[in-house]
Formats: sequence, structure tokens, C-alpha cells
Amino acid sequence: MAHGRDTLVRDGRARPCRRTLRLLGSLLLVGTGLSMTGAVPAQATAPTPLDRVIPAPASVAPGGSPYRITRGTHIHVDGSPEARGVAEYLAALLRPSTGYRLPVTDHGAGGIRLRLAQGPFGAEGYRLDSGRGGVTITAARPAGLFHGVQTLRHLLPAAVEKDTVQPGPWLIAGGTVQDRPRYGWRGAMLDVSRHFFTVDQVKRFIDQLALYKINKLHLHLSDDQGWRIAIDSWPRLATYGGSTEVGGGPGGHYTKAQYKEIVRYAASRYLEVVPEIDMPGHTNAALASYAGLNCDGVAPPLYTGTEVGFSSLCVGEESTYDFVEDVVRELAALTPGRYLHIGGDEADSTSHEDYVKFMDRVQPVVAEYGKTVVGWHQLTGATPATGALVQYWGLDSTSAEEKARVVKAAQEGTGLILSPADRVYLDMKYTRDTPLGLSWAGYVEVRRSYDWDPGAYLPGVPEGAVRGVEAPLWTETIEDSGQVEYMAFPRLPGVAEVGWSAAGSRDWERYKVRLAAQAERWKALGVEWYRSPQVPWGAAGR
Ligand code: ACM
Repeated sequence: MAHGRDTLVRDGRARPCRRTLRLLGSLLLVGTGLSMTGAVPAQATAPTPLDRVIPAPASVAPGGSPYRITRGTHIHVDGSPEARGVAEYLAALLRPSTGYRLPVTDHGAGGIRLRLAQGPFGAEGYRLDSGRGGVTITAARPAGLFHGVQTLRHLLPAAVEKDTVQPGPWLIAGGTVQDRPRYGWRGAMLDVSRHFFTVDQVKRFIDQLALYKINKLHLHLSDDQGWRIAIDSWPRLATYGGSTEVGGGPGGHYTKAQYKEIVRYAASRYLEVVPEIDMPGHTNAALASYAGLNCDGVAPPLYTGTEVGFSSLCVGEESTYDFVEDVVRELAALTPGRYLHIGGDEADSTSHEDYVKFMDRVQPVVAEYGKTVVGWHQLTGATPATGALVQYWGLDSTSAEEKARVVKAAQEGTGLILSPADRVYLDMKYTRDTPLGLSWAGYVEVRRSYDWDPGAYLPGVPEGAVRGVEAPLWTETIEDSGQVEYMAFPRLPGVAEVGWSAAGSRDWERYKVRLAAQAERWKALGVEWYRSPQVPWGAAGR
């Protein structure tokens, strides 16, 4: 892994140790624009242009002097606990690399200010004003402040991401950014069933999502190969059904306390967790755990392969609905978010009649526990509940009939989340030579995942029916964070921009330059990525 530390060594520059910097700081040399080795080269002192941000902001007006974060900078909030929370997050982000105290205070002027105020911001928009006297981020809601803070982060040098003191200077270009998202659903999905991922691995992914203003983390919690969430009324689901994974490894599951910790951590990054229990197919782990869930009363063995479509809950059996209700009740109680995803894809071992019957029974249960149904788009083969969202994962070659069902559902009021597999499935190989991933939807290079418009994707879908986009990462071949990152980067920032930025403001030729500039940040963060030949990485790509 190319880490920032190696970069500094390779560049032949001395890496000042924390203690030396503290000493120098007391001599007021730090923060003057001078590094240990003398004057900082011009290109290092020029602030990042206001538009070098991913996702592209709605509008950018450069002008005036930059603001410089110094040893004396305070972060001011206006008394709201949520604004204070965002300010503390920002301070924690900046302190290690700047070496500054950056106290968060409820009063004062100048410095960095986070302000909640009425304005044309919506639920997630913000305005960032930067000038010699300070930087102010204004938003109507804390989520907007948080997204504004991500923009501030992108405007600072990549070295700000490092966990040791760096020389700076910490300049933010002068001017104003006004920004709000195109779509309210900008998601990523992690399949923790095919391979299990620990709480810390999920948190690491959450932090990467937050950097690009993604606001939904869909967790695929159950499948044939593993059940990953403790359900008290059916304990063997997790203890037995979660005891392995693809390839036969030990698997794992989240206790309720661990799951709540994921939800809490995601919320602190303004991400809503969308839990998925995939039904009635993709259920071998449950069927293996409880013989009574099988129509023939015989539990199949645990499964560690990668086939799909061979398992089904027993639709005609009443106890199936006791099971579903218990799971939905316990999962809803763990879920402060609005949505509960019930899967519904690839139910190839369930008859059409049974599928419809099952969905007619199960969707009201989700509503009974206060949640909104999300399902894969095969749910349109039944009747989506009022207010349900379906997640479209087809591809260019999906049959006209299947697409027409989705379009019709959208015309009748069902909301769509677009996850076209040949555009945004993060588990698809980039090229034939990609060592990880699958290729059933083709190869998905970086440009392909960026260069499409959700608003025009399925002709006939009313504009308001598209609620957003989501990039799923299935993990049949993915086993650790480095592999997650290699598949997610650099496609994920592109999908984030597809979901956030207006179609008219998006242009691959300009985007690829902004994307290349992210490489230094990934290096500083220790994030793996695929060096796509489509992107002009320059020296940062080495
Ligand atoms: C899916 O990829 N089976 C939703």
C-alpha cells in the first residue's frame, strides 16, 4: 500500500517529528508558511481551487483572499448541540495533521464558523464563504454543515488527512460555494453476508463514504452464505447461520450492541443505515439454522459456494410469517432510519404465485413496525406497497418486458433507486485483468460508472420517481478492507457525483482531472485504489 509516509521519504524531504514541530511551534515558526526545509514551493502554497471538489458543487464563485488555518484558529458554533458535534468532528479531523488545538467554542468571530440558519439549503445543502477573516459554513440542517465540512476538507491540502503533524500551510481559497444535492438517496451497499466484515471494517468504509457526501449505507445482512445480525427470538440464525462464509471461513455476525454501534457511527457521519434481510430467496443460512422453515422440514447444510437462486422460504407455511415478523420487529427496533430492505431478487426457487403471496403478506409487516419497504426491482413483479422504493439493478441487456414493469411501477408512484449493474456494481471487474470481482454484467471501467444520467436512464420514468443512486459491493470475491477499496475506488466518488451533482454540470473530461487530484488524499488516508488508465493520475498514481 502506498502510504503518505512513504511518499515523503521517496520525495527526499525530511519528515518532521511531532516533538520537533511542537518546539518550533513555540518559536512561532509553524504556521508562517515556512516548512522545515525553507520556503514552501509555490505550487504547495496555492490553495486548491474551489471547484476541485467531488461531488461537484452546485455553484462556485471564487474571489478574494484565502483563509489560513493557524495555531490561533477557533471553530465557532452557534450553541446547537448538532452543530457542536459537527465542529468536534472537524476539529478531530484537523488536529493530527495541523498540530493545532482548534478549540470548539460557542461564541466569537473569525476563524471557522458553523452556523445553522434558514436559507435555500434544503435538508443537506450548505453555503461555504471563505475570505481572509475566516470560513463560514451555513446550513439549515446539521447534515448540511457536515457536507460543508467535507467540502472544506477537499479544499485543504491532501496532507490534512495524515495522522502526523505536517508543515501546511493550511489555506482555503477565497470565495463562495453554494451547494445542495440532486437526489436524497446517495447510497453504497456492502454485502457482509458472502464475506463477513467487522465493525471496524464497516466504520472505515463509512468514513470513506462520508468524504463523498454519500448518505445511505445499505447493509446486505443475510444471504445463502451467512446470517449476520443477532435475532433474539431465533438465535441460531446468527450463531449457526452466521458461522461461515464463501470459501468456508469462520464468518461472523453482529451482536445487537455491535450493530447499534455501526448505526451510531454512521449517524455521526450523517449516513442512514438501510438493513436488508433478503427474502424469500437467498435464505439458505436461515433454512440451515431452522429445519421448520423448510417445506420438507429438513434443514439443508450451510453453503459456502457462490451460486444463486436455489433457496426459498416456505411460502405456504404459517410459521414462515412468525419468523418474518420476529425478524422485522427486532430489526426495526435496531433501526432509527426509515427503511427496511426485504430483498426479493433472484427468487428462482419460489413460484411466481408464491412470490406474490409472500410479498403481499410481508410488506404490511414492515409497515406495521413503522418502516418503509425497499426491495430489489423484482418486487415490481408483485405489487409494491404504497410508498415502497425499488432498487433497479438491471443492465442494458435487461429485457424490455422487465424494464417496462419497473417503468410502470414508477409511473404508478413507486420510487426508484438506480443501481444499474453494468454502471455502478462495484464488484464488477474494471477490465478482463482485474484480479478481483465478477463480470456477469460486463467490465465496468471508471468512465462507464460515471458517464450516465439517472434522470434519463429508464425512458418513461417520471422525473420525481428517481430518488437516487446506489453503488452495491457484493463480496463473493472480496475479503478485506483493501479489496473493498480497490473495487470502490475510483468508481465510488463518481457514483457519489452522479447522485449529488446536476447532470448539466457533469463532464467526464473535467471530472477525470478532479478525480486524479483525489489520489494524494487516498494515499494520505492509506486507501487502496485501482490505477485506471482512463484517469490522468500523474505522479500521485505511482
Ligand atoms: C442482485 O444483484 N441480485 C440484486
